[in-house]
Amino acid sequence: MWCLKRKAELLAIIALFGGVALAQGDEPAAEAAPQAGIAETGEQVASRCAECHGEGGRSQTRDMPSIAGFSMLATMDLLDTYRMGLRTARAVELPDGTKTDMVEVADSLSDADEWAVVIYYANQPWQPHEQPFDAALARRGAEIHAEKCDRCHYDGGRDPESDLPISAGQWRDYLEAEFDNFDSGRRAMSDKMREKYDTLSAADKRAIIELYVSAGDY
Ligand code: HEC
Ligand code: HEC
Repeated sequence: MWCLKRKAELLAIIALFGGVALAQGDEPAAEAAPQAGIAETGEQVASRCAECHGEGGRSQTRDMPSIAGFSMLATMDLLDTYRMGLRTARAVELPDGTKTDMVEVADSLSDADEWAVVIYYANQPWQPHEQPFDAALARRGAEIHAEKCDRCHYDGGRDPESDLPISAGQWRDYLEAEFDNFDSGRRAMSDKMREKYDTLSAADKRAIIELYVSAGDY
């Protein structure tokens, strides 16, 4: 349900930006300010995320997800899962000694800041993290994924158009932790994903993680 509400909001905001872009076509100098404002705000908000998610959303920490290139809807939905208590957030200590987590982060965003930051990340390039992997296992994972997961996580978890987190080339440590979180119930999943996920053996899960770690390049 929350997804539909978000989609409606997103369409409204895209229409607004579309309007701004059209106006710019006619009057480039005079109309340039509003969009520059949104881009600047996006960058400013993202500077609050960078301590954990890295510059431009490319994480330098293996247990922290990269979020560059996630679609706007994907990031909005993910932020909502924290607000709605569907996902337990881990507290992380910042260099200045303070602690925060994703629930606090999501709650602290105004609507305008959230739109700006999701647009910012949607425009950053996803760069798979190069990590060692077992090619035979990744191939096995690809077969299982094609059968059970690709319907939603398009193209082996590579395609941002699925409006889901990109998993191909994500950090292994982070992925393993999220599979554990799904298994233990610390992270909820939709009934439709559950239907498929619950048919996976422990070995199947390892194979799919290997596929993701390989970024499809096996
Ligand atoms: C203090 C560290 C920290 C900060 C600051 C932070 N995050 Fe996170 N974020 C995390 C951690 C850790 C996770 C994953 C594990 C968890 O849920 O605790 C995460 C997960 C996410 C996810 C889900 C990724 C996925 O693949 O499921 C999104 C989206 C996200 N963060 C966006 C943001 C945005 C946008 C900001 C800035 C406005 C931000 N985060 C700031 C630590 C942080
Ligand atoms: C019906 C659609 C659907 C199917 C089928 C599906 N998923 Fe998902 N998956 C989702 C949604 C929606 C999310 C985002 C959930 C959230 O926001 O926390 C997700 C999230 C994930 C994540 C978290 C990634 C991250 O960075 O946060 C992983 C891992 C994942 N799915 C693995 C799988 C695997 C493995 C399969 C196949 C067995 C699968 N999914 C099948 C819809 C699906």
